[in-house]
Amino acid sequence: MAIIEASGLTKTYRSKSGPVHALAGLDLSVPEGTVTALLGPNGAGKTTTVKVLTTLVTPDSGTATIDGVDVVADPQATRRSIGVSGQYAAVDENLTGFENLEMIGRLYHLGRRTARQRARELIEVFDLAEAGDRPVKGFSGGMRRRIDLAGALVMNPRVLFLDEPTTGLDPRSRLALWGIIEGLVSDGATVLLTTQYLEEADQLADDIAVIDDGTVIAEGTADELKAQVGGHRVVVTLVDPADADAVHTVLQRYGVGAVETSGDRRTSGIAVEAGPAALQRVLADLGAAGIELHDAGMRRPTLDDVFLRLTGHAATADEAAATGGAGPGRSSRRGRGDHGATSADTADQASERVR
Ligand SMILES: Nc1ncnc2c1ncn2[C@@H]1O[C@H](COP(=O)(O)OP(=O)(O)OP(=O)(O)O)[C@@H](O)[C@H]1O
Ligand SMILES: [Mg+2]
Repeated sequence: MAIIEASGLTKTYRSKSGPVHALAGLDLSVPEGTVTALLGPNGAGKTTTVKVLTTLVTPDSGTATIDGVDVVADPQATRRSIGVSGQYAAVDENLTGFENLEMIGRLYHLGRRTARQRARELIEVFDLAEAGDRPVKGFSGGMRRRIDLAGALVMNPRVLFLDEPTTGLDPRSRLALWGIIEGLVSDGATVLLTTQYLEEADQLADDIAVIDDGTVIAEGTADELKAQVGGHRVVVTLVDPADADAVHTVLQRYGVGAVETSGDRRTSGIAVEAGPAALQRVLADLGAAGIELHDAGMRRPTLDDVFLRLTGHAATADEAAATGGAGPGRSSRRGRGDHGATSADTADQASERVR
């Protein structure tokens, strides 16, 4: 039996504008000692799934077990085997980083010395030595995030839930966190994390569950998902949108599937089988036709591409409306505006676009 099992979970929130079906029959199975990523856009139900599995929200129907323990029937026992770092850092503003970690250890009934020892170790691991003695209220967003993540590890849980763990972290901290997660798993922990980045799921997860509208719409390894979505894409951005039709013809010559064009008709892309060779041919043909390019390159499939292929719609509703379709040149995925994009997001997305 998998260490995390969920079957037919449903959860409907009542809001002023009517019921919101956050989970609509979600099934999940995570084998012990592996990492599973829940990949989905804003509002897909990622946080709600994590909250149900960590006993913070009661599902309307369905069942979930952690290590065979029913999370609804026995929340206390469930909590003993899990650690959780929520989407928004839960830290005491007036305590220092060190004191926050020590307090968590004490709340879990660690002795004072052990709690302090563990706090020191985690401050080290998360590279917070300079910040450990300052009150959290003076911390940057990324530092808060790291203290919160450290807090989830105080008790060395067997099962760790991380809700968008790297959102808001700079690239260096993100890489460091990836390393920490890999280390935990090689020591036998099981991790369920949520992310909006296919690249991150690809890097960390053995299995990816793509979720949309409260259900799992696809599951598999990153390679399996990418095989469904197609490999690399050639993407070109024009100086003059009037050249869009000519570009369309050239892309179709060397790509597979449909050409995707942004709403402003400046950026077009297509999935290709022969990555670099296809790019070279596209560039040669465009050069011969005298078409001026602002940008050209190859990039790997993103969450948007997975979504477009699996659901026929873009990852976020607002963006699809704004661009008149799912153009490959779009950069923001946080269309529903419930939390602001950070500089790390922007950097990440920009690097995805040029890849
Ligand atoms: N407490 C609540 N009351 C009402 N609606 C809620 C509540 N919590 C979540 N929802 C709604 O349930 C749906 C799923 O939300 P959830 O937070 O699980 O999504 P998510 O995948 O984590 O999104 P994000 O990427 O933005 O964090 C959304 O439509 C959201 O607006
Ligand atoms: Mg969330």
